[in-house]
Amino acid sequence: MDGLHLLSKVARSCGHGEDSAYFDGWKAYDRNPYHPARNPGGVIQMGLAENQLSFDLIQEWVKEHPEASICTSQGAGAFGDVAAFQYYEGLPAFRNAIAKFMGRVRGGRVVFDADRIVMSGGATGANEAIIFCLADPGDVFLVPSLFDRDVRWRTGVKIIAVACGSSNGFQITTQALEQSYRDATAQGTNVKGLILTNPSNPLGTLLDRQTLKDILKFVNDKNIHLVCDEIYAATAFSAAGFLSVANIVEDMEPAADINLDLIHIVYSFSKDLGLPGFRIGVIYSYNDNVVTCARRMSSFALVSSQTQHFIACMLSDDTFVDKFLRESSKRLEARHAKFTTGLMRVGIQCLKSSAGLFCWMDLRKLLDRNDKECAEDDEARLWRVIIDEVKLNVSPGSSFHCTEPGWFRTMEVALKRIWAFVGRKIGPDVKTKKHRENHVFTISKSSKRLSFEDDNVLSPILSHSPPSQMVHTSYF
Ligand SMILES: Cc1ncc(COP(=O)(O)O)c(C=O)c1O
Repeated sequence: MDGLHLLSKVARSCGHGEDSAYFDGWKAYDRNPYHPARNPGGVIQMGLAENQLSFDLIQEWVKEHPEASICTSQGAGAFGDVAAFQYYEGLPAFRNAIAKFMGRVRGGRVVFDADRIVMSGGATGANEAIIFCLADPGDVFLVPSLFDRDVRWRTGVKIIAVACGSSNGFQITTQALEQSYRDATAQGTNVKGLILTNPSNPLGTLLDRQTLKDILKFVNDKNIHLVCDEIYAATAFSAAGFLSVANIVEDMEPAADINLDLIHIVYSFSKDLGLPGFRIGVIYSYNDNVVTCARRMSSFALVSSQTQHFIACMLSDDTFVDKFLRESSKRLEARHAKFTTGLMRVGIQCLKSSAGLFCWMDLRKLLDRNDKECAEDDEARLWRVIIDEVKLNVSPGSSFHCTEPGWFRTMEVALKRIWAFVGRKIGPDVKTKKHRENHVFTISKSSKRLSFEDDNVLSPILSHSPPSQMVHTSYF
């Protein structure tokens, strides 16, 4: 690009996610966005993990509580106090409400200290700020299959994937952690920590108590940090529920001898409440120095005081919070079951999961070759077919550092397109349910352009409110 040489190294680098192949799917969507009436053959956005499934409950609350906005006649009395507020600790009511909500989402068994809540611009900002606090350029973080968008770009840290595969359901093992630590140190790098997402993006799985304890022991033994991105905490729908690293800390015996200074949690309201536009991110650290430093850094990405005020009002309504969490998890579970059953009808298996807004879809049968290097190219080729011809923007496993090619993250929309895609070889009756059930997954990648009568987009925007202008993933 002209004039780029005049800019900084960061500006010239290709470290931003937008420069990665992953964003090609987004660009394809931008060029040709799906619309149910105006552009039914357009690209459907399934690369965005949005959760609008329980938006109606929030909208209902907003209508009943105009005082939560300082721009209404009912709320304008607080205008001066709220609009002039600028301390980067955040409104006390906001921090208290977040601490209480985080505890509630973790089964009411953890008490979070409101003085340790540091705000940031979404989890993206929180993840970057915590890395700035913990590491220097060139330092390494170990990551099991993980969403890491943009964490590396401005911080200059590197990421080394921890091998996780289908043989044990993508579980994180101590052996795999040890191996990646050995590999990283053998390359002469300085390993500063381990980054987890729990519940996992892209897997939708939950870490169990023993795995969390093993991980704590691992970071403690190595004296490295543990950053737990728990942005999907309230999306868990299994009976066992979500177990946070904070639950383990809370239950720890005093003799456990774990250095709490190494433990940090990242949270946001982008997924659990489905409010990514509000840019509410949180760093919760057990390390006093990190809290102080992160709070100073937070002045670069504060949450607006009106948003803080609104969230404080909404989350202090216990009846609403209880209803929202109960209903949201019920709807997520129902939608997940519907989608995975639909995929199974054409022989597509998904990793068993019980949280998140997506499914980890196994398309390994579509890869021609088995040796790993070719399979990686194959995954990229298959992904192109899905974007260019099927016109679905799904996310390939490689964009999550998945070391086993052939896995794709998808959302619960456009089942009909997926059925048409995988059933293409079956013949003219492909759209009948009976046919789909009787056939297994056989598809050639040398596909032709498909045409669709209707995309069967299972979107809460469509089911709970009037059709949106732009249909994204909108829940799954
Ligand atoms: C695991 C994870 N962390 C962080 C983010 C970014 O969230 P936010 O919108 O709060 O910046 C996402 C968004 O998809 C995510 O999946």
